[in-house]
Amino acid sequence: MRGYDEVYRHSITDPAGFWGAAAAAVHWHKKWDAVLSGEAPFQRWFAGGELNTCYNALDVHADGGRGGQLALIYDSAVTGRLKTFTYAELRERVARFAGALAAHGVGRGDRVIVYMPMTPQAVVAMLACARLGAVHSVVFGGFAADELAVRIDDCKPKLVVSASCGIEPGRVVEYKPLLDAAIARARHKPSACIILQRPQARAELTRGRDFDWKEEMDAAKPHDCVPVAATDPLYILYTSGTTGAPKGVVRDNGGHAVALKWSMKNIYDVDPGEVFWAASDVGWVVGHSYIVYAPLFNGNTTVLFEGKPVGTPDAGAFWRVIAQHRVKSLFTAPTAFRAIKKEDPDGGLVEKHDLSSLQSLFLAGERTDPDTLHWARDKLGVPVIDHWWQTETGWSICANCLGLGALPVKDGSPSKPAPGWDLRAVDADGGALAAGAVGALVAKLPLPPGTFPALWGARERFVESYFKTFPGHYETADAGYIDDDGYVFVMARTDDIINVAGHRLSTGAMEEVLAAHPDVAECAVTGVADALKGQVPLGFLVLNANCKRGEEEIVTEAVRMVRDKIGPVAAFKQAAVVPRLPKTRSGKILRATMRKIADGEEWKMPATIDDPKILDEIGAALRGIGYARKG
Ligand code: COA
Ligand code: AMP
Repeated sequence: MRGYDEVYRHSITDPAGFWGAAAAAVHWHKKWDAVLSGEAPFQRWFAGGELNTCYNALDVHADGGRGGQLALIYDSAVTGRLKTFTYAELRERVARFAGALAAHGVGRGDRVIVYMPMTPQAVVAMLACARLGAVHSVVFGGFAADELAVRIDDCKPKLVVSASCGIEPGRVVEYKPLLDAAIARARHKPSACIILQRPQARAELTRGRDFDWKEEMDAAKPHDCVPVAATDPLYILYTSGTTGAPKGVVRDNGGHAVALKWSMKNIYDVDPGEVFWAASDVGWVVGHSYIVYAPLFNGNTTVLFEGKPVGTPDAGAFWRVIAQHRVKSLFTAPTAFRAIKKEDPDGGLVEKHDLSSLQSLFLAGERTDPDTLHWARDKLGVPVIDHWWQTETGWSICANCLGLGALPVKDGSPSKPAPGWDLRAVDADGGALAAGAVGALVAKLPLPPGTFPALWGARERFVESYFKTFPGHYETADAGYIDDDGYVFVMARTDDIINVAGHRLSTGAMEEVLAAHPDVAECAVTGVADALKGQVPLGFLVLNANCKRGEEEIVTEAVRMVRDKIGPVAAFKQAAVVPRLPKTRSGKILRATMRKIADGEEWKMPATIDDPKILDEIGAALRGIGYARKG
């Protein structure tokens, strides 16, 4: 077997040869003309090739000897339901739903928004779009109506697939009123909505626009796979940018299928027929890549878990699922493990289950802190692999590739660049940094297949955001360093993005909401440390001089506004009312200093501050709401 070093070198010295060989594992309706073509940063993988993503996920297995093998296990801890689908059954459902979509005029290139909880129908809807060559855009259920409206206006879906409700521990979240409000607010109006009625809440259907999932499925004729260009979009997934307008990350069909199929054996060391579980949500990139597409491309059984690591019913939920379904590899976010560890620090619940099937744990979404890493390794007795990736990249930039032979683990590092990633740490001018020096983490172009070829409808923003600062390179917007052994350490974002429970959020978007409060003259939001979620947002509000209302009342309203406009997922629960915001002489708000004060960290007086006394006032306001305490 070729080890990591050899495979990595090959991928960098001959990207076209490397990925061309990997592409042989994918079914093509027509072979590509060129593995890699075009000018950076608009290079494309497998131009001229034709394939169908759904065919590669389902039909190759259903017709290739795995028809009776489980493709999907739906395990709902919040409803107590368990349902399994073989490859043949899942293909039958998907083909039928593709027929239902086609009956509404959805075809190749049309966009479909999927606003769904973690039910099998969400997976069916995604794959049905892929079957038709339509472009899905899944919107996470924890976003509010306004966020949904923005996405509707940006990608202009022909149709929306949704459900009557999602189920959070202790409450039923009705989706339909949110969908109705979003459509009312959006300028673009989808011509139809297909709604899954769940028993926990029934949705009011608007005659002529809304259709019942079950009735549509009963009436539909199965639809076959439509071959599409390798370079055609498979999906758009919106992610936070520095402003309120989210970025529509585009994924293509060909490069995506090749890279994800390759990753299952080489990174995760999982073989066809084995059970893989990504405990994430289909609304996030991890859910797209590793709940839905990659495990199915690879002929695995994937687990769709509707529940939480704690409280559904307890901190043993993950162990129960692993034991019951014989999971080989689990992928989740460190925050899930922190939640479990907090409830069951001694791991008593781990011992109650037979975890002999489990061979590895992969963590991503945020840096894995050493405490969590050690706890997980001690309690589970398997390799714990931190790997680093982004919505834009679709799969990992750095990983300890288990299938290529495990590398020694270094605490706090997602190991070395994955094959295909020519990664560097550079200074502000793009100059290479010495080992150990912190700078911007950038990747030399071309990016490997499976990464984003575009932002939906935003060619200039694509170039500006990612390729302008360091020409010839992709700017990850993460800062860090590479050590003497080539291990990468990812330290912090270089922009205003924060990471809350593995969810990526824009502080700029929250500031836009707060600024609209009639009593708020000025505001800032920064991420502060949180023992469970890693970071949580904290607001700073300067009130209008003539404001006579109570501060507490205004903070409560501000919290409500962020929840209503962005959604509960923002976890915006606290704000400090301050007399002024600290700024540089040129007017830039000193967010990093405010964060350090809030976290009780050491901080230096910024040389460029316009009035140093402001920081004492900020400290006092923060202490008043329980922050800025040392230790
Ligand atoms: N629909 C509606 N609301 C949702 C939702 C959904 N799909 N998902 C989350 N929410 C709500 C929650 O109910 C919560 O609301 P609340 O403020 O009323 O309590 C809020 O959004 C924040 O949710 P969450 O981030 O899940 O926090 P939590 O406190 O409920 O749970 C964890 C904390 C750590 C258990 C949870 O974040 C978790 O399991 N994280 C795993 C991380 C993950 O999946 N990351 C994806 C990348 S791998
Ligand atoms: P998202 O696009 O939601 O996947 O978020 C991507 C961001 O999460 C990255 O830019 C990092 O800031 C952070 N991130 C994800 N995985 C890791 C990791 N393993 N280590 C450090 N940061 C990570």
